[in-house]
Amino acid sequence: MKRVVSYSVMSDSGEKTLVKKIGVLTSGGDCAGLNAAIRAITYRAIQTYGWHVMGIHNGTTGLIVRPLDYEELTLESCNSMMMRSGGTMLGSTNKTDPFNFPDAQGERTDRSVDFIAGYRELGLDALIGIGGDGSMRILRHLAQQGGLNLVTIPKTIDNDLGHTESAIGYPTAVEVATEALDRLQPTAASHQRVMILEVMGRDAGHIALSAGIAGGADIILIPEIPYSLDKITQKISSLADLGRTFALIVVAEAVKTENGKPVVLSQEGSRVRYGGIGHYLADKISAVTGADMRTMVLGHVQRGGQPCAQDRILASAFGVHAVDLIAKGKFDRMVAWKNRQVVDVPIMEAIEQFQEVDTKGTMIRTARGLGISLGD
Ligand code: F6P
Repeated sequence: MKRVVSYSVMSDSGEKTLVKKIGVLTSGGDCAGLNAAIRAITYRAIQTYGWHVMGIHNGTTGLIVRPLDYEELTLESCNSMMMRSGGTMLGSTNKTDPFNFPDAQGERTDRSVDFIAGYRELGLDALIGIGGDGSMRILRHLAQQGGLNLVTIPKTIDNDLGHTESAIGYPTAVEVATEALDRLQPTAASHQRVMILEVMGRDAGHIALSAGIAGGADIILIPEIPYSLDKITQKISSLADLGRTFALIVVAEAVKTENGKPVVLSQEGSRVRYGGIGHYLADKISAVTGADMRTMVLGHVQRGGQPCAQDRILASAFGVHAVDLIAKGKFDRMVAWKNRQVVDVPIMEAIEQFQEVDTKGTMIRTARGLGISLGD
């Protein structure tokens, strides 16, 4: 059994903290690589610093409810199988904002005080929150209100957080979408069809663009670049003129109709669930070209399953660095990936910068250079 060492660290505010116990939670939509991050945090905290690590269940909910809902993480419970597994062993939610928390009757109240009390009741010296922009905003608000020591790790398949080149989950989502194109291409070719693949990503087109390039798409449509149906049908006709009997189109879920209307499945407050643009486009394109069209909405398979190697590496590096930040008493920071290494930035800076596709960047130039139509 490892000796428990107490690390005395100085926080940014100049306060001395004796770190013995840290918490970790995953919040927002799950993605591949979360368990690898939890494992890295647990290993670093126990092996290097001799701390206790508490895994908080179901996002912030585990510290709001009574009794508190958590488990102690150990080297045994976080073995290397966790590198290979999808989802999050701690559970997650994208529906339970502590400042607007639903009770059993569906009424919403501010439970931030309970969360802060839960952090103290569990005896936490610091908390690592793994989440996207929405979760980080909430966690930071809680940390500011309660004077909690917070470090965050970026995760989102959408890859729309500022100041980090990649977030956990994005590389695997791109792999899954690319594999879908690999599988759609032969069936499209066999049946002389135009296939549309609709991918996730919310308001950013990163998954569509990367997977489209990697998977040999003919047309990629992203929210950042307005398209015209004429350009799309012209591209399909030009492929036919060259003797191509099929075409592959990738469309990001937040691409709008030609007259600028978002295509949504549902809307709860400001939170929309996108879905359906692929089918909309299929109808429009076949009406003009007469093409035999099929649409595949890839959905949540982009989030689940085994993380790819890049996600495991990213998650491991992020987890180790996040624990080291706590050891140094550096709080209110998000770990980030920049220029081949892990760095850390103020959480606020990362969430304030929505990272959409750079329409003048390398990826767009690459797509255009390959003759891929972006619909414009
Ligand atoms: O933000 C991640 C994400 O997967 C988006 O790409 C997608 O629009 C959304 O979450 C789906 O959310 P839910 O899991 O609530 O359906």
